[in-house]
Amino acid sequence: MSSVPTQAGGVPILVLKEGANRSRGREAQHGNITAAKVVAESIRSALGPKGMDKMLVDNFGDVTITSDGRTIMDEMDVQHPAAKMMVEVAKTQDNEAGDGTTSAVIIAGELLNKAEELIDKDIHPTVIIDGYRKAAEKALETLEKIALSINITKQEYLKKAATTSMGSKIVVEYKDYLSDLAVKAMMMVAEKKDGAFTVDVDDVKVEKKTGESIRDTSLINGIVLDKEIVQSGMPKRIENAKIALIDASLEIEKTELDSKINIENPAQIEAFLDEEETMIKDMVNKIITSGANVVICQKGIDDMAQHFMARKGIAAVRRAKKSDMEKLARATGAKIISSLDDISPADLGFAALVEERKISDDKMTFVEGCKNPKAVTILIRAGTERMSAEAERSLHDGLCVIRDLINEPKIVAGGSAPEMEMATQLRKFADTMPGREQLAVKVFADALESIPTTLSENAGLDPVDILSELRSRHGKGETWAGIEVHDGKVQDMSKANVFEPLSVKKQIIKSATEAATMILKIDDVIASAKTKAPPMPPGGMGGGMGGMGGYPGAGEY
Ligand SMILES: Nc1ncnc2c1ncn2[C@@H]1O[C@H](COP(=O)(O)OP(=O)(O)OP(=O)(O)O)[C@@H](O)[C@H]1O
Ligand SMILES: [Mg+2]
Repeated sequence: MSSVPTQAGGVPILVLKEGANRSRGREAQHGNITAAKVVAESIRSALGPKGMDKMLVDNFGDVTITSDGRTIMDEMDVQHPAAKMMVEVAKTQDNEAGDGTTSAVIIAGELLNKAEELIDKDIHPTVIIDGYRKAAEKALETLEKIALSINITKQEYLKKAATTSMGSKIVVEYKDYLSDLAVKAMMMVAEKKDGAFTVDVDDVKVEKKTGESIRDTSLINGIVLDKEIVQSGMPKRIENAKIALIDASLEIEKTELDSKINIENPAQIEAFLDEEETMIKDMVNKIITSGANVVICQKGIDDMAQHFMARKGIAAVRRAKKSDMEKLARATGAKIISSLDDISPADLGFAALVEERKISDDKMTFVEGCKNPKAVTILIRAGTERMSAEAERSLHDGLCVIRDLINEPKIVAGGSAPEMEMATQLRKFADTMPGREQLAVKVFADALESIPTTLSENAGLDPVDILSELRSRHGKGETWAGIEVHDGKVQDMSKANVFEPLSVKKQIIKSATEAATMILKIDDVIASAKTKAPPMPPGGMGGGMGGMGGYPGAGEY
């Protein structure tokens, strides 16, 4: 494909490098919208408690089975730039709210779908973008208005919201058990400041080990490391542990350069080895002098160092993860030391018990009764690795939902009641608006209705009947009318115990609008010569996801 020559006095001027692809205007918009829509379409069937799961196979043949929106999007490995922007929607939603990723992508796709219909009617994208922004503002306002304030110390709604978020996952059978653990864990690490609670999901450490069943998942009052005590001669149980956290190698550093030592007699070999031993002994002595009886090292520990420590009754763990070191520092009050020369008794942390325990076939190290009681670990157990990975993802959603509620204690009922209420209010709002933006606001309302439609479709219900009943009930002022997919009826969702954080819903509107408007604003796609235009696989991306093309028909000028 040639670059983009422009005629000037009959001589073509090449602006872009040979091989660059370019598409503009309507063609670029159409390509981008189509790609984004296909991505949204592919994730639709995963929405809600009756949604289906996806089996994703990566380049190495590793299989992931999930119904989690973010994971599906991540694993899909899309090539098209607009499709990649949809993956970003899921990421933003996950980072900001932790749940609602599937909904955000579906709504973004539908906003683009509806926008295309308007573009076909010669409404300029800028008008649509303005309309969408106003609609999003109004939708957020509506959400704020209908949201209910909760008292988080009672924990009742934290549990209900966590159960709702886990109710749409493969682990649904254990949703009550897991949400109980999640609420307990988050309340243990929540901090009260100036009358309000704050919490961070990272304060709850999640470890997983295959074996047993999800019901054996437990909450541990401390930090669990997926590491064993490094040498069999070391104690496996230390009470009143004084812990040194070391971010330096307890080995003799090998030089980068090749060096040669000329040895002329056996005594020199001995002297050389003695020197090494002395250096290691020196290191260990520094630890002993500090009074530590447990060493957790982020790097390696030399065999000889292990031996010396074992002789002194010191237990050691090596190659601990950086994130674990930071958690341990917070939990035990230890300071992470990067040079052994600096170690002093004041740097040590404290835990009532450090113990290696056998979990299934592996050994793990438990650090319990920490100085700071706000250190907890949830140890996930599940029959297979795939199940424990999905349990971890689901628990993550549950923990995030609880965090969202602790940080902003407001809820809405689910089952598409809020989306329907927003749509209803938006249609009223549209009537007050002049001109073409009105159309954009109206289609925004239509796009929100993709949630009840999809929830019903996935539950095998008739979306047309349900949508008309929902519209009419919301028209009569029934704010919480939604579809309960288990019994297939439109009902007051605030009585159906399906609750979600207000912040998740708000973020869905924000992420979806942002992505849709960003994609709509693009009218020129220039792919540099280096970026190889993705091939157009026959029949689309495979996995039944429909035809997703390569770059929007790269135009030649
Ligand atoms: N019992 C129920 N009846 C009807 N709708 C429900 C029920 N439980 C949950 N929902 C709805 O299902 C939707 C959430 O589904 P799901 O968890 O699959 O997607 P998500 O939260 O958008 O994305 P993800 O969890 O993958 O990040 C919400 O709209 C929620 O209100
Ligand atoms: Mg969810």
